[in-house]
Amino acid sequence: MSPDTHAHARLLLQLCPGVSLKEEAGGILSARYDRETLPLGKFSAGARSRAAELASGVQIFPARARDAPEDKEILDAGRRLALHGLVEYRLVGADGKDMAIIEPQMRDYAPRLPHIDEATPLVLSRFAYLRRRGEDMVLESPRANAAVMLCDARLASALASLAKPRTAAELRAEGMFPGAELLALLCDCQMLHPFDAGKGLRASEGDDALLLWEFHDLLFHARSTNGRHANPTGGLYAHARLVPQPPAVRPAWPGPAIDLTKFPGASDSACAALLRARHSERVYDDQHPITLAEVARLLDGAARIVSRQSIGDGGGDEPGLDIAARPYPSGGASYELELYLAVGRCEGLPRGFYHYDAERHALVAIAANDRQLGALIDDGQFAMGAPWPPQILITIAARFGRVSWKYSGFAYALILKHVGVLMQTLYLMSTEMNLGACAIGVGDIDLFSRITGLPFHVEGPVGHMAIGSRAADGGSDRL
Ligand SMILES: Cc1cc2nc3c(=O)[nH]c(=O)nc-3n(C[C@H](O)[C@H](O)[C@H](O)COP(=O)(O)O)c2cc1C
Repeated sequence: MSPDTHAHARLLLQLCPGVSLKEEAGGILSARYDRETLPLGKFSAGARSRAAELASGVQIFPARARDAPEDKEILDAGRRLALHGLVEYRLVGADGKDMAIIEPQMRDYAPRLPHIDEATPLVLSRFAYLRRRGEDMVLESPRANAAVMLCDARLASALASLAKPRTAAELRAEGMFPGAELLALLCDCQMLHPFDAGKGLRASEGDDALLLWEFHDLLFHARSTNGRHANPTGGLYAHARLVPQPPAVRPAWPGPAIDLTKFPGASDSACAALLRARHSERVYDDQHPITLAEVARLLDGAARIVSRQSIGDGGGDEPGLDIAARPYPSGGASYELELYLAVGRCEGLPRGFYHYDAERHALVAIAANDRQLGALIDDGQFAMGAPWPPQILITIAARFGRVSWKYSGFAYALILKHVGVLMQTLYLMSTEMNLGACAIGVGDIDLFSRITGLPFHVEGPVGHMAIGSRAADGGSDRL
C-alpha cells in the first residue's frame, strides 16, 4: 500500500441502494424505499439541487471552501436518513476508487474525522472484528455506531498490523498506512484507540467499565436487541422458505416409555393452578387503570430485597461477596437486575419514568423527556402488536458488572437466564393479583441509555414486561 495513495481521501454522503428522493410541492423532499415514504421536510432551492446529487454522492469532506448553508441542510437530512438506515458514507481514495463504505448503525451517527497525532501509537480495539458478509468484508464492533465495509482488500492487512500498537509514521514506513481519514474514522467509531504504554492495552481503552466485558458478551448484548445496530430483527420468518418449521413437540425417542399418567396429577396444587392460570395479556382496562397500591404489591412480591448477607471474609482464595437476595433465584446470588417503570397510566402515580429501589421499596422518579418516555412505551405496544400502549412498561435492566466481576465466559448468558426467571416471577405475581402482564424480549438499549444517561455497557435493558389492569375479555392473545 503506497504511502500517498490515500493522501486526499474524500468522504461522500450517498443514498443506499433502492432509496430515492422525491421533490414534492412547496420545496418538500421525501425519501422513497421499499414502498415506504419518509418526509424529510422543507429545503431551500440550493439544498434541493445538492440533494439531487445524493444518488451518486455529495462530498462532505473535505468541506467546500465556503460554509454553504445548503450543505448544513444536506447533513441534517443525512442524519435523518441515517436514522432509518437509508444513507451510507463512501470513503473514496485519491485514485477515485472506493476505499470503504461506512454504514451507520445508530440513529445519531454522522462521521467525524478527529485529528490523528502522527506520533501517537494506535491499536485495534479488542472488540473490533472483520467478517465476511455476502461477498464483502466488514469491520464491526459492538462499541461502534457504524460498520465499515472494506472495498480494498489491502486495508485488511493494514488493520491486522494494528494488532500491535503502531504510529501513523510506523505504518507509513511499513507500507501499511491506510490513510489519515480512515484512521480518523475508525478512531471515531472506537474500532481503533490510542495506546498508552504506561497503562497497557486494556486500560488504554479509555473506559474502566469495559474492563469487565468479554468480547462475545458485549457483541451478544449489542446485537441481540435493538438500538445499536441496523440489522433486520423480529419475526421475519427469514428461513421459512428454506427449512420447514421444527416440530412443536419433539419426536419421541425410540424404546419403552414409563407411563406417568397413572399417577395423580397436580390438579390439587395451588402452585400448579397459578401456573396454568398464567397467560400473556396485551390489552388492559384503561377505564380502570392499575393503581399505585397494586404496583407496590406486585413489586413487593416479585422484586423487593428480602435479605442482606455478606459471605466470605476475603481471607481465602475467593473474595467476599455482598448479597441482596430477592424473591427469585439468581446465579451466584448476583441479583444484578433492576426494574425501571415507564408509567403511562396508573391511578395515584403520575406519568413518568421511575427506578424501583428494591432495598427501600420505593419508586424514585427519573427526569425523562416526554417524547422519550412515549417512545419507550410505544416500543412496548409495537412489540406486543397491541392496539393501545401498555399502562406500565417495566424495563428489566442489568448491572452487568455484578455478574462479570465474578463469572468469566458465560456472564451475559447467565444474565439472560435471570431475566426469564424474573419474568415468570412477575407473571405469577400478576396472575395472583388479577393483573394483566406480557413479557417482551426486545427493546431499544440506546433509548434507555439516552433517558438515563447510563452507558449501554454499564447498566442497560435485557428484557421488558408490560403490565396493566386486566381487561374484561382477558386481553388479546397474539403471539
Ligand atoms: C422472553 C419472552 C419474550 C416475549 N416477547 C414477547 C413480545 O415481544 N411480544 C409479545 O407479544 N409477546 C411476547 N412474549 C409472550 C409470548 O408470546 C407468550 O408467552 C407465548 O405466546 C405463550 O403465551 P402465554 O404467555 O399466554 O402462555 C414473550 C415471552 C417471553 C417469555
